Amino acid sequence: MRAYNPGFGNHVSTEAIAGALPLGRNSPQKVPFGLYAEQLSGTAFTAPRSENRRSWLYRIRPAASHRPFSVYDRNAHFNAGPFANPTPPNRLRWDPLKPADGSSDFLDSLVTIAGNGDVQAGTGIGIHLFSANRDMEHRAFSSSDGEMLIVPAFGRMVIRTELGVIEIEPQQIAVIPRGVRFSVFLPDGLASGYVCENHGALLRLPDLGPIGSNGLANPRDFETPVAAFEDIDAPFEIVQKFSGRLWTTTLDHSPFDVLAWHGNLAPYRYDLRRYNSINTVSYDHPDPSIFTVLTSPSDTPGTANIDFVIFPPRWMVADDTFRPPWFHRNIMSEFMGLIHGAYDAKEGGFLPGGASLHNCMNGHGPDKASYEKAIAADLKPLKIEETMAFMFESRFVICPTAYALGLPECKSDYDEVWSGFTKAELPR
Ligand SMILES: [Fe+2]
Repeated sequence: MRAYNPGFGNHVSTEAIAGALPLGRNSPQKVPFGLYAEQLSGTAFTAPRSENRRSWLYRIRPAASHRPFSVYDRNAHFNAGPFANPTPPNRLRWDPLKPADGSSDFLDSLVTIAGNGDVQAGTGIGIHLFSANRDMEHRAFSSSDGEMLIVPAFGRMVIRTELGVIEIEPQQIAVIPRGVRFSVFLPDGLASGYVCENHGALLRLPDLGPIGSNGLANPRDFETPVAAFEDIDAPFEIVQKFSGRLWTTTLDHSPFDVLAWHGNLAPYRYDLRRYNSINTVSYDHPDPSIFTVLTSPSDTPGTANIDFVIFPPRWMVADDTFRPPWFHRNIMSEFMGLIHGAYDAKEGGFLPGGASLHNCMNGHGPDKASYEKAIAADLKPLKIEETMAFMFESRFVICPTAYALGLPECKSDYDEVWSGFTKAELPR
């Protein structure tokens, strides 16, 4: 069992070797053991204290110590566009992507399905899928374009970061801060899933309003790693995503050489099975925002750059209510994935590891089979089990890449899901 520091956004102090962490000063004249002090800023220096996120790292060599980056040309499909032009309004569904032929590590298996906003302006998101079957040996990746929310659907992942090691499995998530170098290892030999790269304001817990001081994702269930380092003098490839493209350079040592750190900017993990679902105990059901795990706010109050929303197991008790998600058209754009089991608005065709995209103002909702089952159901309390779907919901239109539209897994018959609804019978 690895140790973790509990809590979301806490100020943490951690050292892998006793005495490595300076006391009383962030950057003393001489750091213990001759380590180098380095500040990692996740918000502007002058961000309000309540928003400010930064950590101090104490390492064997400074991160600045490397040769120039050159273009990385071994994965052309992981980027920030170009997106399909024009952006189609059509509702889209993808089956789980087939793994690439041969072996591919996490970095080289990433393909960009969709995105929005502007990486240089710090708005929007990138949505990527991965299907890896090889460890990132002596290779590390970081994104200067945004924090990486990793949502595995199959296989466990061991994520070694500069600030320590995080282990996740399907139904757990990890968030790697912008700029933090990490490598992914695969204890099961393979892993696949989803990544939301958040170009905007840092993901945070949503406010709870009248819900009160508890509920939804509880802060104590988030975990940051304890400091862990390796002292390896050997070539390491460093790949960074910068301004939408990949760049590479080589170090003569491991980048995971941080002996100690303190601060409130760190990778973290969360187990979605710990989510405290809140819902109706009378009739109707709240908007799906009631299932928000994390949110990246935009400049417009209540209108997120990205909301990360889940649809977990839960009791359905509403009286005289159509219980599945209703038909709707939403100003926000919705990308959905399925991590486990089945989704209650789709009787078939939406597979774990698959995805769907319902863009701004385009109607969607239950398929015909789900609809007919719901209006005929005996409305006893019912527990929905064996399910874990999620949504990346954004204020900006989510633009698919031309690559994603051309994949054989992109279903051309998705609209058929909403075919065959009979005409309402009006009184004569
Ligand atoms: Fe929706």
